[in-house]
Amino acid sequence: MQGVAIYPGSFDPITLGHVDIIERGLKVFDHIIVAIAVNTSKVAAFSDVDRLHMIEESFAHDRRVSVVSFQGLLVDFARQQEAVAVLRGLRAASDFEYEFQMAAMNRRLNPDLETVFMTSRSTHTFISSTLIREVSAMRGDVSEFVPEVVLKYIAKRYA
Ligand code: COA
Repeated sequence: MQGVAIYPGSFDPITLGHVDIIERGLKVFDHIIVAIAVNTSKVAAFSDVDRLHMIEESFAHDRRVSVVSFQGLLVDFARQQEAVAVLRGLRAASDFEYEFQMAAMNRRLNPDLETVFMTSRSTHTFISSTLIREVSAMRGDVSEFVPEVVLKYIAKRYA
């Protein structure tokens, strides 16, 4: 598949699970826009700016990845960017129901936009941004689960 894909999420913070999906997505798409979106059921622990910088620094070496924050509907943003697909990762069966609903709603809102799912590597299925924050807040070591550049943001946030 060619063209631009949007990889949306809260990225609060980005984890190696997200990085893996982006890197594998680049084998399928020419360019990936990592889009920090608003999930109305979540309150972010890291600021929009910090979340953006964490992802930019993680992919500073790769011009095929760009990072933006957006407000509003994903389908509208995808249309503006002329994206051919939305990329999402599936960690376990428990992700499926929620992802299925979002993909179905997005297709209803924009029938031209496809959602492409990639399954997470088995080593990443248990990682979530929530658990990274919880372990970090209690001074646990998360260096195995996040890009190295993220560690300084975590140290600052949970100082
Ligand atoms: N490896 C490890 N963890 C992963 C992962 C992977 N490959 N993929 C996702 N996760 C984790 C994330 O860390 C996150 O953990 P958390 O719940 O503890 O924060 C969780 O899985 C899912 O989060 P994420 O992928 O960041 O997405 P989200 O569910 O927070 O975001 C949006 C959903 C932002 C895509 C959705 O709300 C949206 O599109 N918003 C824009 C508004 C809109 O259009 N709404 C209508 C949608 S139909």
